[in-house]
This record gives sequence, structure tokens and C-alpha cells, in this order.
Amino acid sequence: MIIAVDGYSSCGKSTLAKEIAKALDITYIDSGAMYRAVTLYGLQQGLQRGEEHQIIDSLQHIVISFGKNEDGTQAIFLNEKNVSEEIRGMEVSNNVSFYAKIKEVRAFLVAQQRSFAKNNSIIMDGRDIGTVVFPNADLKIFMTAQPNIRAQRRYEELVAKGKNVTLEEVLQNVKERDFIDENREESPLLKAANAFVIDNSHITREEQLALSLQKIEEIR
Ligand code: CDP
Repeated sequence: MIIAVDGYSSCGKSTLAKEIAKALDITYIDSGAMYRAVTLYGLQQGLQRGEEHQIIDSLQHIVISFGKNEDGTQAIFLNEKNVSEEIRGMEVSNNVSFYAKIKEVRAFLVAQQRSFAKNNSIIMDGRDIGTVVFPNADLKIFMTAQPNIRAQRRYEELVAKGKNVTLEEVLQNVKERDFIDENREESPLLKAANAFVIDNSHITREEQLALSLQKIEEIR
């Protein structure tokens, strides 16, 4: 079984996807973390705004893998270094959508994303999972929520992790990424025609999980 979860920045896709993965005992893959890892690599190489396309020459040096953190949560490794924390910082958030526009970066990551589903049932979240990565997914979920609510949630998450951010800066980033992600040429953020839409502005985690599990029951 393949489940695709797409939607806007910070609307809880990974929270829902992780909970579904647990309930069904299937693999969860965070495709956004992979774009974030490539971005971190570019920043570490000193690439400035406007120079992002130079990452194309370095793609063969980028190895991304998934594992576990000490507390059992999913970890992402960039060339064998655990970068799970680092990729969530504002520097990566402020640059990731510029890297995600690059066709070669997308082809590089999409091939890996598809390989995860070869021998496993998986749930993957991102922007183009139901439209490009797995157009034949068994279930496609498209998530959205009001921008202010999304920014507030992400702000609280970052503050809880001890990051020094302002609500204004987070809202700005959420809006900018949405704009770039929706308007780029390559695999823009788009609701698949047959996607099940969840607007979680005013529903709880438990409610969105219940709605999704009910939908999964229907297609099984
Ligand atoms: O968690 P959040 O919603 O803030 O974002 P994310 O899922 O970590 O994705 C970070 C960025 O990666 C997005 O804003 C997109 O620019 C890009 N992305 C993408 O282009 N395609 C995907 N399948 C996943 C992420």
C-alpha cells in the first residue's frame, strides 16, 4: 500500500503521516526532510542566494539515509551525519524552496523516494507525492489550514525546541514557501484530482487521524 500526503507548509502533514504509519505499521518517509538535507549541503558549501543551481555538480557527493534518533524518532543522515535538528532551523527553511525548484535536484530525490516503496508499504509526505512521485498511490491526502494557524503551530514547535524565532518571521517563511512551491515550473504543489482533502484549521490531531483511518478502511 502507498499513501501520499501533500499540502502546504507547516500544516501537520508529518504529524498525521507518522500517526497513520504507526497505526498501520508501515514505513513513513518525510520527503521534505530530503529537500532540506540537500539545502543544508548547499549552505555548507557556501552557496549564496542565486547560486543554488551549482548544487547540481555536487549531487553525486550527497548521500541521504534514514535511521533512528536516541529517543526512537526518525532521523535523517546527510553523508552519515545525523542532521535531523539542523535541517529544521530557519536558515534551511529560508532556502529550501529555492533548491526544490531545481529539476535535477528533484529527479535525484524522486528516484530515491520511489525506491523506498519497492518492497514496502509506505506513507510519504511532501508536495508532489500524489501527483509526481506516486501518481498511482492507493490513497492521496491533501492537507491545508489557514496560514496564520499554520505559522502559529510551527512557531510553537520551534520555540519548544529552543529556537530563537519570531512569529512574524515564521509566518513570512510559510507564505514565501507556499508561493514558490505552488508557482514553480517543476512539480508544483498541486492537489491531485482524486485527493481526499483535510483542512485541519479547526480539527484536532485525533479527528484528522480518525478521518484518515476511516478513508483507508474504505479503500482496503
Ligand atoms: O514541514 P514543512 O511543511 O515546513 O516543509 P517540508 O515538508 O519539510 O518541506 C520543505 C520544503 O521542501 C518545501 O517548502 C518545498 O519547497 C520542498 N519540498 C518539495 O518541493 N517537494 C516535496 N515532495 C517535499 C518538500
